[in-house]
Amino acid sequence: MTSFGSHYYGSVSIALSGTSAREAISALILRISSSIALPSFRHNRLYCSNSSAVSAEVQNQEQQHLRSSDLVASEYAELNLSHKFYEDLGHVRIRQHVNPLSSSFSVPAQVPDWYQVFRDPTLPLMVDIGCGSGRFLIWLAKRNPEVRNYLGLEIRQKLVKRAELWVREIPLDNIHFLFANATVSFKQLVISYPGPLMLVSILCPDPHFKKRHHKRRIVQKSLVDSIVDTLMPEGQVLIQSDVLEVAVDMRSQFDEMELLKHIDAYDKTLLCDSEGWLLSNPMGIRTEREVHAESDGAKIYRRMYRKRT
Ligand SMILES: C[S@@+](CC[C@H](N)C(=O)[O-])C[C@H]1O[C@@H](n2cnc3c(N)ncnc32)[C@H](O)[C@@H]1O
Repeated sequence: MTSFGSHYYGSVSIALSGTSAREAISALILRISSSIALPSFRHNRLYCSNSSAVSAEVQNQEQQHLRSSDLVASEYAELNLSHKFYEDLGHVRIRQHVNPLSSSFSVPAQVPDWYQVFRDPTLPLMVDIGCGSGRFLIWLAKRNPEVRNYLGLEIRQKLVKRAELWVREIPLDNIHFLFANATVSFKQLVISYPGPLMLVSILCPDPHFKKRHHKRRIVQKSLVDSIVDTLMPEGQVLIQSDVLEVAVDMRSQFDEMELLKHIDAYDKTLLCDSEGWLLSNPMGIRTEREVHAESDGAKIYRRMYRKRT
């Protein structure tokens, strides 16, 4: 599977198998490059009006995206996930950001029978909000069997279906993915969970850059309140973004929660830069967006909080 196109402004993911994958990717690049609108590149450095220079730049960016897809594949290589085309899933095609405020996403997700989805639903739970492909969470679940359960919430149903197929392939009994609008469903899902909520992550959420779209951002006061209310004492929240404006927006909302304190107050090994951003990733694995962003040379702005006892 590879994905390319501007990572925040719409991307295309395809599932391929067999030795001709590279050729198929190249053919697809050619098809797509003719339809990519130049302004859609986030790190747009296409100031030059010379068309051959522009197409060389486009090619460069495509190669860069392919390279970063290879990096994503190697980040999760030990999972050995099949990238075959799933008949009932079709191609996993990701369009631009969905609008979580649209009425089609207003229906709360059904609370699952936790005893059906986890082998032991009394274990501490980590919830990853906006988990994307889910590979980050699958990696963690595989590393931590029998000590923690993992729940991925994702608003794109096809990503959830593919993640579930991957989980079945491995197989794992401490992870579950739910097609859910986290803004609508987070609280009712976690309060029904039999065990404690120990960690919530919101990693590289959709930025919704336009001011009039900020209300579509996932970190809103009601979600922050729900997270703090449901977190166990000493439970943690990890937020990060490669977009400074989005990171600052999330940070300002979590910083002002009285019950939360930044992790460096408790753990002196977790160092921050002079602005208070964590210097390293405390999870031991990067998310897909994180890999793409870092391969583009971007910085990840990260904060981790702990709930007071
Ligand atoms: C930029 S991606 C980042 C995915 C992953 N966390 C990573 O870092 O690679 C943001 C993800 O959040 C999902 N998302 C956006 N709004 C959401 C919502 N209200 N509820 C659940 N998922 C949401 C998107 O569909 C997308 O998969």
